[in-house]
Amino acid sequence: MVFYFSGTGNSKWVAKYLAQLINDEAFDIIDLKQLPNIYNEKQIGFVFPIYAWGIPEPMALFAKKLMKNKAFVFGVCTCGEDAGLAMKHFSKIYPLDSSYSIVMPNNYVIGYDIEDEQTIKNKLTNAKIKLQSISNEIKEQRKTYNVQEGSHARIKSSLVNFGFNKVARNTKSFYTTDACSGCSVCVNNCPKSSISLKNGKPVWEGQCYMCMRCINECPQQAIQYGKDTENRKRYSIKKYLEEDK
Ligand SMILES: Cc1cc2nc3c(=O)[nH]c(=O)nc-3n(C[C@H](O)[C@H](O)[C@H](O)COP(=O)(O)O)c2cc1C
Repeated sequence: MVFYFSGTGNSKWVAKYLAQLINDEAFDIIDLKQLPNIYNEKQIGFVFPIYAWGIPEPMALFAKKLMKNKAFVFGVCTCGEDAGLAMKHFSKIYPLDSSYSIVMPNNYVIGYDIEDEQTIKNKLTNAKIKLQSISNEIKEQRKTYNVQEGSHARIKSSLVNFGFNKVARNTKSFYTTDACSGCSVCVNNCPKSSISLKNGKPVWEGQCYMCMRCINECPQQAIQYGKDTENRKRYSIKKYLEEDK
């Protein structure tokens, strides 16, 4: 079984493609009604995006609760550049036999401009090639640590990640412009259920996962975060998967 969490579809695509290559099935942990029975599983995989050089909260909580068995366990994280020590931290929660990072398009639109078309396409092509070789290694149950940690990994995965989870996950800077049609796509899409409609318009409450699904997938491009996102494009992997067909 391959378990995944995905904000904007990168990790979902990685999990599904990898599962297909290793004749397995991928499950979105947000949709699971109860903890899965993995007693008879021979291989277990975890796929998730890197958030501030760390593990997204829902994946860490899921892994903490999941039973351990004798299966071969692999973890694959997706990141725009590098993962820091996230996979080593994950391994302390749920021991991994093999760990990989895959560079994917950066979806962090509230922090950076979305990459240009060619960079996105190159990343997706390279990811596909890397996943094919990862799938062969998983089939052989090869133990390995193939993770792009990047520079200053220790400090990024401790202090910076701590700050992200404490402060930067506050939703108060999200708002909608007049372009919002009140369609509820963001409300229904939010994996943390942090968005609700008030007077026909979405409002954000409390902390969220900062997964970027709402802002990237709004059909009207009406969701903004602070001032900087007004002039930025949005990222959707769906567009590139459609072109690939
Ligand atoms: C809140 C947040 C923090 C991120 N932090 C990092 C990071 O520390 N390093 C990195 O290389 N990419 C980072 N990214 C980029 C994502 O990890 C990357 O785009 C990932 O593939 C998104 O996967 P998803 O589409 O499954 O959500 C971050 C993205 C978000 C939304």
